[in-house]
This record gives sequence, structure tokens and C-alpha cells, in this order.
Amino acid sequence: MKDLTPDRSSLDPIEIASRDEIEALQLERMQWSLAHAYANVPFYKRSFDTAGIHPSDLKSLKDLAKFPFTIKTDLRDNYPFGMFAVPREEIARVHASSGTTGKPTVVGYTKNDIDTWAGVVARSMRASGTRPGDIVHVSYGYGLFTGGLGAHYGAEKLGCTVIPVSGGMTARQVTLIEDFRASTIMVTPSYMLAILDEYRAQGLDPAKSPLNVGIFGAEPWTNAMRREIEETFDMHAVDIYGLSEVIGPGVANECVETKDGLHVWEDHFYPEVIDPVTGEPVADGEIGELVFTSLTKEAFPIIRYRTRDLTRLLPGTARSMRRMEKITGRSDDMIILRGVNVFPTQIEEQLLKVEGLAPHFQIELVTEGRMDAMIIHTEALASHASADARKAAASDLAGRIKDVIGITAAVKTADPGGIERSMGKAVRVKDNRSRS
Ligand code: DLL
Repeated sequence: MKDLTPDRSSLDPIEIASRDEIEALQLERMQWSLAHAYANVPFYKRSFDTAGIHPSDLKSLKDLAKFPFTIKTDLRDNYPFGMFAVPREEIARVHASSGTTGKPTVVGYTKNDIDTWAGVVARSMRASGTRPGDIVHVSYGYGLFTGGLGAHYGAEKLGCTVIPVSGGMTARQVTLIEDFRASTIMVTPSYMLAILDEYRAQGLDPAKSPLNVGIFGAEPWTNAMRREIEETFDMHAVDIYGLSEVIGPGVANECVETKDGLHVWEDHFYPEVIDPVTGEPVADGEIGELVFTSLTKEAFPIIRYRTRDLTRLLPGTARSMRRMEKITGRSDDMIILRGVNVFPTQIEEQLLKVEGLAPHFQIELVTEGRMDAMIIHTEALASHASADARKAAASDLAGRIKDVIGITAAVKTADPGGIERSMGKAVRVKDNRSRS
């Protein structure tokens, strides 16, 4: 793999500024953001008043902990435009995240917000090893989802040639990557695996593809998956994080030279990690729920938003800004099986160690008698499709899951191609437990 470490002179100065400088900027911006939210969004006025706190009470960054949290239902309760802090005419764009039930969560951007967003995505791409002039293939979905347009504007801002493909039509994805010679791809890691299958189906060697950099996010993925993708494509696989409520992709990103967690772009998004039960902030280094406060957003300021994502904050390395560890999962995705907490990423990690299994999988939860049980649906590689090889792979995986995670799961191994492919975020868990 090529060394794609960016020149320090190409970075935004704040990325490598001193902690004092970063914190001074954060405090000034946080005071502005709280005052802006309070003055312009009735929800925040009510919520701060009820908590007996005023934006002028924020004298230091630590004081943020005195302000109330914002949660997803607060956004739903103010559907569609009730959380906007500027007149509707000043909203240049609206995005929404679908959610599994009920109305979507709507977010809005002024022209300045779109520019801020493009800036943090451009910064993320540069950290990933992408350079001005590179050809960037975007397979994140375009539309209300923030992935496609977020990546697109960032790539343009960095000075790249953008190929706005969106998700789907996997055979065509491969043709376009090969014919246009894209060097960067931006896509969910699970859809990258579908693209990998398609390379093989077309008889092409993925290691010979023109891709040097993959910027993968929108769903949890493991370091084991990184190794799998990096080895097969001979490319760098870098993690990008974000959520619509905070801005979209580009809240945090790994650096290609270290790949040791995602630097949070702290000049725009202030991170905290809290104990999900007590709501108290935990010290850096401790795992908990990630909470964000926007520092510069005009249309949709967000104060202490509980993401449900679980991670911990670590000191900066390649940049001065703090890192968040690769996300283990969302608290909503955590499966509690007979008292043991399990995340799909833990299953992924074990699956990728088993010879003969493809990296695609789905977890099904069922009721057996009065107990919950887990079935892991996997898929054999074409080279290991015989009945004996499949049986061996299934028992290898079940054994690893028992030894490492401590749960008993049934493993089923389908024919090659037997697991449904995702075109965006993979659905890892199917809950078929009876509700009686
Ligand atoms: O998924 C934004 C995005 C698009 C990020 C493209 C990266 C790339 P939402 O649809 O609002 O926004 O979903 C946000 O997805 O709270 C996490 O649970 C999950 N997520 C996003 N990035 C990562 C990641 C976009 N790198 C939710 N690792 C978040 C793990 C991620 N989970």
C-alpha cells in the first residue's frame, strides 16, 4: 500500500494546534451555540429553563455538563421543522434519517452549514489519504440520507473529480471504478463486500483495482474487516463517522498514517462520553455513550445529543484533536443473550477468523422453549462449499463464539451468495423472538 500521509502544511492549522488553542476556540464557540439555540429554538429555551440553567452560566467547557440532554424523541416531537434556529427561508437543504418506526428525524442546513460540512468532509478525506485531483467514487446513497451528498460536497471542496454513483447496480459500480480509474471509494463497509463479490464474479482481481483508499462508515465495522478489505483490494481502509443530527458524515475520521481511532473534529463538534445509566460524564479513556454538542451550526444547533453509540475518548495522536475508539455498536443493537451482552461486531470479528466463510452474516434471535437463542446465518466461500467444509466452518465459528464471547450460538452456513447483500447500512440482527 502506498504511503499516503498528508503533508502537515496541507492540514487546517487547528488540526495540529495546541490543546489550549483548541479549548479556547471551543469555549467561545460553545457559548455562541448555546445562546443561539436558547434564543431561537423554543425547545431549547424550555429545556434550559426547566433545568434552571442559562447559556450565560457556561464559564468553562466543564459547565456543559449542567445543561440538559437532547434525545431522538425531542427531535421527533418537533417534526418537521420545529428544531430549526433560523427562518425557513434561510434553510438551504433538508436531510432526514429514516428510523425504523414512525416519522423520520429531519435536519436542516444554511448555506454556511453546508460549507462547514463540506469542510469537515474534505478534512476527513485528506486525513484518509485522498488528495486534490483524485477521482472519488461515491457509493453512499444520495437523497435524504446524508451519506451521498455529504461525501459529494466534501470531495468537491477538496478539489477531487467526483463520480456520484449512489448505491445499487453492483455490476455497474465495478465497471465505473475500473473504467474511470477511481482511486478513492466512499461506501458502507458492508456494501464494499458486495462490490468485492462482484469483482470476483467478473473474474477481476480486486488487488489490481485502481482504488488506493476506501472511506468506510455509516455502520459499525471491525479491525478484522479492515484487514480483510485492505488485503483483498491492496488499499487503505479508513473509518469515517457521523450522524445526521450532528451534521452527517465527517464528525470524526481516522488518519491513514495511524488508523488508531477517529479524530473528532473538535473545532465544530464537542464530544462527551457519559454513563448511559446515570448520565454523568465519564473520564476520557472510559467507555460509555457518546454525546455531541455542535459549536458552529446555524440552522440546527444540537446541544448534548445522546447518540446511543458506545465508545471512549482518547488523546490525539496524528492530530491534536481527541480520538474516539472505533464504535463497538449502538446501545440499541446490543443483544442480551441469557445475561451476556453481545454486539454484532463481536460476531464479525470471530467470523473473519474462520477459514471458508464469506464475510457476510446475519444474526437471528429466536425463542426456544422459554429461552432466547441465537442463530448466526453465514455463507460458505465457493472454495469451501462442500458439505464437510461447511460443517467444519460452522463448528469452528460456534467454538470461537463460545470461547471468546461466552455464548452458545447455532451457526448455519448457506451456499455462496446465500446471505442477502445490503446496498447501504447492513441489517445485522433479525429479531424473531416470540413476544408472549
Ligand atoms: O450514517 C452518516 C454517515 C454517512 C456516516 C456516511 C459515515 C458515512 P445516520 O444515518 O444519521 O448518519 O446514522 C448515524 O450510524 O449514530 C452510528 O450508529 C452509525 N455510524 C455512522 N458512522 C459510523 C461508523 C450516517 N464509522 C448512525 N462506525 C450513528 C460505526 C457508525 N457506526
